Amino acid sequence: MITDNKITLLKPAGMPMSRESADLPSSAALSSVQRLPVAVVGAGLIGRAWAIVFARAGHPVRLHDADEGTMAASLAYIGERLGELDGFGLLDDPPAVVLARIRCEPDLAQAVRDVVMVQENIRETVDSKIAIFKQLDALAPPDAVLASSTSWLPASTFTEALPGRARCLVGHPTNPPYLVPLVELCPAPWTAAHAMARAHAIYEAAGQTPVALAHEINGFLLNRVQAVVLNECFTLFERGLASAADIDKVLKDGLALRWSFMGPFETIDLNAPAGVKDYASRYGKSNRETMSDVKTFSWAPEPIARVDRERRAHLAVEDIGARSAWRDRRLMALAAHKRQAPAA
Ligand SMILES: NC(=O)c1ccc[n+]([C@@H]2O[C@H](COP(=O)([O-])OP(=O)(O)OC[C@H]3O[C@@H](n4cnc5c(N)ncnc54)[C@H](O)[C@@H]3O)[C@@H](O)[C@H]2O)c1
Repeated sequence: MITDNKITLLKPAGMPMSRESADLPSSAALSSVQRLPVAVVGAGLIGRAWAIVFARAGHPVRLHDADEGTMAASLAYIGERLGELDGFGLLDDPPAVVLARIRCEPDLAQAVRDVVMVQENIRETVDSKIAIFKQLDALAPPDAVLASSTSWLPASTFTEALPGRARCLVGHPTNPPYLVPLVELCPAPWTAAHAMARAHAIYEAAGQTPVALAHEINGFLLNRVQAVVLNECFTLFERGLASAADIDKVLKDGLALRWSFMGPFETIDLNAPAGVKDYASRYGKSNRETMSDVKTFSWAPEPIARVDRERRAHLAVEDIGARSAWRDRRLMALAAHKRQAPAA
């Protein structure tokens, strides 16, 4: 049972598995946590990707969507992605075994009946999140963690009135989470520390990289960093300093090569012989002066249209899907490389 300050979470080792999960073939190396069922609510772009994450890790997954056609389509999509992941050596079990762990469940009560965690992925409006969390809090076992994939909404905006609000939090993935492992955990003011710790452990056991915020802030961590980068890219373009293609190269053939395996703090720690303090004493003043003419980008239609014209000259709108599939295959190759040579 969970109260505002205390959460008594399940004891995985002693918990009986459902008949369905006990019957599933799975790797002997799975931990007891990985054998516990997880519900994924909302089977759109992000929900179906989460189903891959949890099933790949060994969890029996209950995949629920308000639209039955979406659920059926998501299974076909997941089957294709599992084949690709297997081709890149990114699955520990055969694709058919991973797929068999996912069950589409049109009845929400059945989907969340005996789960250790619910990962919610429905549309991004406060009213929708309030409505679904009210149902989830009433239907899920009292010790299940309720995590929302929301990109921008703090959990305090949709969980305040719930009796079980202490087990609610944001678990914000990066698209697609089966290839980009970062998950941002953000508590509401009333989220129990144990719920945060439990979610952290479940994501980590599933092969994700959880990071925890101390409290709510607009945009969490990733979208704040991304917003600052986008702000400066658009501003440089709007000022006529470089083409959109050249600004993209600054990241893809410059900063982001290092950033794909080390963060900005780690990067500057290596960019001066004696580390961060040395970097700051050499380049801190120049960095501060550079910031003095940084402006907030308007996101106005005119500069957006100019960037769009340049992008459309390189990629037609109807080719975006194919290019996204290409991106995901490149991410798979990168994930396979990082798997062989994990960061220390
Ligand atoms: N798209 C991204 O890149 C991205 C990245 C990180 C987080 N997110 C977050 O993930 C969430 C889902 O985004 P998405 O891109 O997958 O959206 P989506 O539109 O692709 O999928 C939403 C799904 O929710 C279903 N749905 C709506 N109401 C429902 C209900 N009451 N019960 C059950 N199912 C319901 C819809 O039928 C749809 O299939 C959002 O909160 C979004 O902010 C998205």
